[in-house]
Amino acid sequence: MGMKRVKVRVPATTANLGPGFDVLGLALRLYNTVEMEVGPGKSGRKLQIDIVGEGEENLPRDRRNIVYRAAQLVFDRFHLAPKTLHLKLINRIPLASGLGSSAAARIGGLVSANRLCGERLSIKEILNLAAEIEGHADNVSAAMVGGLVVSCISSPKGRKGREIEFVKLNPPKNLSCVVCIPSFQIMTRYARKILPKTVKFEQAVFTSSRVTILLAALIKKRYELLRMAMEDKLHQPYRRRLVKGMEVVFEEALKAGALGVSLSGAGPSILAFTASSPPSCAEKVGKAMRKAFARHKVKSRYLVLGIDKQGTKIV
Ligand code: HSE
Repeated sequence: MGMKRVKVRVPATTANLGPGFDVLGLALRLYNTVEMEVGPGKSGRKLQIDIVGEGEENLPRDRRNIVYRAAQLVFDRFHLAPKTLHLKLINRIPLASGLGSSAAARIGGLVSANRLCGERLSIKEILNLAAEIEGHADNVSAAMVGGLVVSCISSPKGRKGREIEFVKLNPPKNLSCVVCIPSFQIMTRYARKILPKTVKFEQAVFTSSRVTILLAALIKKRYELLRMAMEDKLHQPYRRRLVKGMEVVFEEALKAGALGVSLSGAGPSILAFTASSPPSCAEKVGKAMRKAFARHKVKSRYLVLGIDKQGTKIV
């Protein structure tokens, strides 16, 4: 393997959208970039990782780094061992905030390494690897292909391993995403541990009805249905204790004109959909959310983001 270089841009993602637990993902116009350079090197194996932006103070810069680890999976699969590897990570996606930063890191590592290996893995193969290491498919699928993505991990009979199935839908038009990001973090692993092992039939039916209406409402632009369609009884009721003020933030966002609101992924960020025009609408909702968090002594900031349609791109 000679000297080679690639630069990849990966979007943030919001998963679940309320009732679509582990199934729905939406890519957002907020991006991390991964620059990877591999070379023959002089002696021994060398790794250099530079990080700018989110996590620059505390993310590992050695073999524990998850971009590096994802890339290494691809190199290992093809029995390629670059002697030197230089990663430059520009991180704009807040960490452990429910905006798909780890999905973006893993997809960034896999796609970059795959490019340097001559694009030997298909999108689906990349997603199979990404979902396996991430544990769920919603963020990684949306980060990879962009837009609104429905996905699940299936176990086809007679075949080894689990596989991702995904469908990319036309992203909803004329909607803005207001993401209110509290200043504390939640590890998804922990936010999954606190979920119950079983739920009541009524909770399951409530949630499956909402997620079905949600997709129909997004596809048919029946945005007046979003408020009801983003209700959920599978995970949000259990995660509210991790996000102080969650319900009040939901209420205030809706009062300020949000069309629908949910926890973003496993939280703690909260996502609100608003009409994209006038732009003041999204700003008003963002401010109302910040204020509601502040009432619970939670510092936060908000971003108004459009929907990313392209997914991961070599730039
Ligand atoms: N569906 C996952 C969860 C998303 O809610 O745990 C994590 O971003």
